[in-house]
Amino acid sequence: MKLLISNVDGTLLGDDGALHRFADWIASHRDQLRLIYNSGRTYDSICRSIHETALPDPDAIISSVGTDVRLYPSSERLDTWQRRFRGWNGGTIQSLLDQRQELVLQPPDQQTPWKVSFYARSLSDQYRNDLKAYLTGLGFRVNVIYSSNRDLDVVPAEADKGTASSFLAQHWNIPPGDVFVCGDSGNDLSMFRCRFRGIVVANAHPELKSLINGQIYHASSMFADGVIEGMEHWLGQE
Ligand code: GLC
Repeated sequence: MKLLISNVDGTLLGDDGALHRFADWIASHRDQLRLIYNSGRTYDSICRSIHETALPDPDAIISSVGTDVRLYPSSERLDTWQRRFRGWNGGTIQSLLDQRQELVLQPPDQQTPWKVSFYARSLSDQYRNDLKAYLTGLGFRVNVIYSSNRDLDVVPAEADKGTASSFLAQHWNIPPGDVFVCGDSGNDLSMFRCRFRGIVVANAHPELKSLINGQIYHASSMFADGVIEGMEHWLGQE
């Protein structure tokens, strides 16, 4: 068994025709692939999209930028993952950062006990490094993730989409070479830093377009068509 771990918005969602083609494609590969969604959104929000769109039922959902890992449809949480985040203090981090004019807190339904999220335009790498150093200096162990030139997430240091994907693959005893990951924006970067085989869809943001190595396939098709193209590429090499 292999794993297909895909981001949702801007990767599988974005072109309804392509999504239907993907649903047909995965249906004919279900005997060899487990499907996992890996999103910045919450578990409940992804479940709504599954009910309202042609997104096929996954086997698990990694949500809120790698901070929550649950089986689907049981919604059973693999809580050994979150036990690593003990000592995290999102409330204090939120109140410290809320004072910064350049950071606008995202709505309450985007905040979770393990993720503090802001909107912020055009932040530099330097700004993010400084922000991380500031919080680290105060004793908070954090990961600062910036996506789409707009979304800034502060999560526990152990958490991101990549580490959560590795955790799930290990949980199911699946080696990294049998894991395929797909994405389009900054919060997907960590998935491409694991020893997985990657697929970047054609509509990806510059932060992913610039990733070049032999483990990453850059599709010429957009959205879910790019995922199918990438999977055909990788499976065709076996
Ligand atoms: C999703 C989440 C948002 C987060 C963004 C980037 O849009 O809803 O809270 O900031 O992903 O990770």
